[in-house]
Amino acid sequence: MKTKYQVQTGGKLYLAGEYAVLTPGYGAVIQFIPIYLSATIQESRSYQLASDLFGYQVDLTPNKDYALIQETIRLMEEWLKDQGIAPKPFDLHLRGTLGEEGKKYGIGSSGSVVLLVIKAVAALYELDLSPDLLFRLAAVVLVQRGDNGSMGDLACIAFEDLIYYQSFDRAWLHEVLTSQPLSQVLDLDWDYQICSIQPAISYDFLVGWTKEPAISSDLIRQVKGAINEVFLKESQSAVKILEKGLREGNKKEIETSIKRADKNLKSLNPLIYTPALKELQEATEGLSVCAKSSGAGGGDCGIALIFDPVETQTLIERWKEKNIEVIYQERMGDS
Ligand code: PMV
Ligand code: MG
Repeated sequence: MKTKYQVQTGGKLYLAGEYAVLTPGYGAVIQFIPIYLSATIQESRSYQLASDLFGYQVDLTPNKDYALIQETIRLMEEWLKDQGIAPKPFDLHLRGTLGEEGKKYGIGSSGSVVLLVIKAVAALYELDLSPDLLFRLAAVVLVQRGDNGSMGDLACIAFEDLIYYQSFDRAWLHEVLTSQPLSQVLDLDWDYQICSIQPAISYDFLVGWTKEPAISSDLIRQVKGAINEVFLKESQSAVKILEKGLREGNKKEIETSIKRADKNLKSLNPLIYTPALKELQEATEGLSVCAKSSGAGGGDCGIALIFDPVETQTLIERWKEKNIEVIYQERMGDS
């Protein structure tokens, strides 16, 4: 019996810095969400790929549904050869959807799938990859596919932490990948920042799901033309104060920075705040809570930080009345 290995990857949600983080040099604060996808991998006579998302299996013959998984495998096999390891066929089964019965929450599914496949292939060879290498390998896959995101999802999910993230220039990476071998590109200085944040203050972190699916890449295409210097500067100032407020346990700074990030996003494009996301945010009225849309907006989730635990239940009830479901809740800063 061949050894079967199991790996998992979680999700992420933005606290602040959405859209601005697409521009290199501007940051975001992103929270890891421990809702997991899992995969099992085992050596096999031929390649067999199965995902719960699709009702059928494939091999490495290009397939539209499995393209992301197949491209990640291709990249990993190129990387393995660079390490002097001959790739061998396997049976890979991906489980979970980061959402309830096929309804996606929008907490990072495609980025999570890429990282999951990388971890699975590494596990087959009993290789322990650092979060930084996981991030770089996954970013290569997405940049080569022409993904238009900041890769903030990959950074957060690879490091499994609350992070401050600043992106690298994806057009530059795309360019060097066409002219230099993978192993060399992985060793270059990409000029991004991923810094872990340990909140020095206790609060309840809530994720409210609007039950409306949104596609980040479509929103980016529609919104990115509106990103200007004023938006970027305001976002960066709010993000930096949020990071500092979290590190130093300064409630006032956390509140004002989330409010500023919320206002700034509202001014960027009306597509971001759907009526449900507006309701999610307005439900905090009169409470010592800060809430905003999270990520690209246009649906999916919003987040709330609650400093007075007695108000947590009030907010959950107010959200329930508005058909907003709490899909994740965590007591932060208590360790
Ligand atoms: O909606 P999400 O959680 O995928 O977040 C998107 C955040 C953007 O800044 C709008 C895009 C990106 O990739 O950074
Ligand atoms: Mg989203």
